[in-house]
This record gives sequence, C-alpha cells and structure tokens, in this order.
Amino acid sequence: MASVKVLSESSVVLKSVPSKFNFENERTASNSDSIPIIDFSLLISGHPDQRSKFIQELGKACQEWGFFILVNHGIPENDMKAMFEAATEFFNMPAEEKQQYEPKNVSDPIKCGNFNVKDTSNHTFTLWRDYLKLYVHPEFHCPLKPDVLREALQIYSERTRKLARALLEAISETLELEKGYMEETLNLESLFQLFAANLYPPCPEPDRAIGIPPHTDHGLLTFLIHNGVAGLQIQHNGNWFNVNSPQNSILVNTADQLEIFSNGRCKSVKHRAVLNNEKTRISIVVANGPSPDAIVGPAQPLVARDGRASYLPMKYTEYIEKQLTKSQVNGKPLLEQMMIQDEK
Ligand code: OGA
Ligand code: NI
Repeated sequence: MASVKVLSESSVVLKSVPSKFNFENERTASNSDSIPIIDFSLLISGHPDQRSKFIQELGKACQEWGFFILVNHGIPENDMKAMFEAATEFFNMPAEEKQQYEPKNVSDPIKCGNFNVKDTSNHTFTLWRDYLKLYVHPEFHCPLKPDVLREALQIYSERTRKLARALLEAISETLELEKGYMEETLNLESLFQLFAANLYPPCPEPDRAIGIPPHTDHGLLTFLIHNGVAGLQIQHNGNWFNVNSPQNSILVNTADQLEIFSNGRCKSVKHRAVLNNEKTRISIVVANGPSPDAIVGPAQPLVARDGRASYLPMKYTEYIEKQLTKSQVNGKPLLEQMMIQDEK
C-alpha cells in the first residue's frame, strides 16, 4: 500500500509533488480573531448567570459559524497525548502490518490508507494524507496493534462521547426544544462515533496538493485536536479562515445531521486541511452522529415553528453510505440534495 509518509521520507529528496497528488485550487485564507471560543466550565459551574451566558454563546456559535474552539472541556491532557502517541505508533508500523486494513468496502469498520478524489474535470487525484478510520461506537472496533491503541482509544472515545452528549443537550436548549427531545429522537444512547487519525507529512509544494479538500462532515458534532501544527481552515460568509487554536483546546464543528435536525438553524461548516513543507501534522478527529438507525429529519417542533420542513429525512446509515460513495469534490454535496426548495 502506498503511504504518503513513506513517500515523503524516501531517500530521494522530493522537490516536487508527484502529479497524481496535483490539486491546485485556490486556498488563501486569513486570520480572524472573531472565531468563537466557548468555555465549557461555564456550563457546569453551577452559576445560573454563567450557564445562560454559555447557552447564549453556544447558540450563536452554532448558528453563525457552525464552528467553535472549546476550552476547559475537562478531557485530561494525558488522554489526548496518549491518542497522538498511539496514532503515531500506528502510522510507523511496517506496510505489511497495515495492509490487512486496506479498505475493501466503504463501510469497513477498520480502514487505513490514502484516499483518491475526483475534481470538477473528473480528474482523479490522491490526498496528501495517510489515515486510519475506526468505528468506535455503538460497536467498538480497533486494530490489535500497536498495543497502546486500544486503551487510549477506549478512554478517548468514552470521554468525547460524554462531552458530545452534554454539548448536544445544551444545543437542544439553544433551539428551545424540550429537555430530552434530541436525545430521544436521535437515540444518542447509541450515538455513532467515527474515529479518524490523519497524518499529513511535510509537502515539498504545499500549494500543489491538499490534505483534505473543502467538505462538510456528515454527523452532528465533530471534535478535532492536532499536534500543534496548524492546517485547518474553515469557511465563514464565503471567506476562508485559518484556525489557530490554543493548546489543549478542542475544535468543534457542527455537521450535516445537526443542520438538518435544526431545520437549517445550525450551519454545517465547510472546512479543509492544508499542508506545509516543514512539519508533519497529525489530527485526531472524532465524528459524533445520531444512532446509526435514526431517521434524521428536521425536529417537529421546529418545523411547526417555521411552518415548513427545509430538509428531507433520511436514515443516518444511508446518509453515511451515500456520502462515502460519492467521490466528487465539486459535485452537488449531499446536504444540498436534501434541501427542500421554498415554494414561491
Ligand atoms: C476530517 C477533517 C481536518 C483536519 O477528518 O473530516 O476535516 O485538519 N480533518 O485534519
Ligand atoms: Ni472534516
């Protein structure tokens, strides 16, 4: 299996990007000091004023940006560190060890390798990234090696799941839904959790390849942490911004199922991962979705309030499968296909 890491470390000094990685779309972005920062400790502080401040800011972040930087989230630094160490060990294993996880079907619960994408002119290119993707909840799947992976992953997946449920409950409150409504409708007890470790090796020509092209995530809330090397960019009001996050923070984005469930109130933010020519970047991503069996459509009380549903409902597993089998980058995204146009 071709590994971008091995390619970038090969003894022949790589001065240019091999043509199969070429993706030269525009990728300028600016810095912004208005990306929302949400302090999780306000939610659990026990002070009603702080709690309502939290709810208000969270609602604003989800509806205006679809993105926020979460601080004081309570996940111990050591649990995050263990995740990076385990992921690094995985990527360092010899190709023979990883070969068994080369994807055969899109829905394989353990997969690793590289990814090919088609651009607008139907030209296929490879992403400058090695990945490991695992389904970790409601069923837990994990490779046997490296040994340290299982425990680190079990702990991290459980902690992030709790955090996701607490944030979703708060988001449900920002939408003025009855307590428990979202939990029950989406059956969050068995929420689907997808774990991904992404490794982006240094790239000799960072503007001629890409880590991940612009996309939205399919679930409800995605959590991302990285090894201190920046590279995530998000779109806001049509402009691209670099995300420079404080150490130990978690980058949270709202995803397609939350936009659908909220009848368009929460925005599924478009984002991409760009490269640099100096440092290896690793990101650890946990995508938290509804239960795989949940049929997700706009919440009924919101439809009643709005007088119409703006999205079609679909079973979550079907949505994931549809999104995974679509390899077009600039074709109409699945989320747009779910939108019901206003009848005028
Ligand atoms: C993803 C993703 C961005 C990054 O895995 O869906 O958007 O910075 N990753 O790794
Ligand atoms: Ni993403």
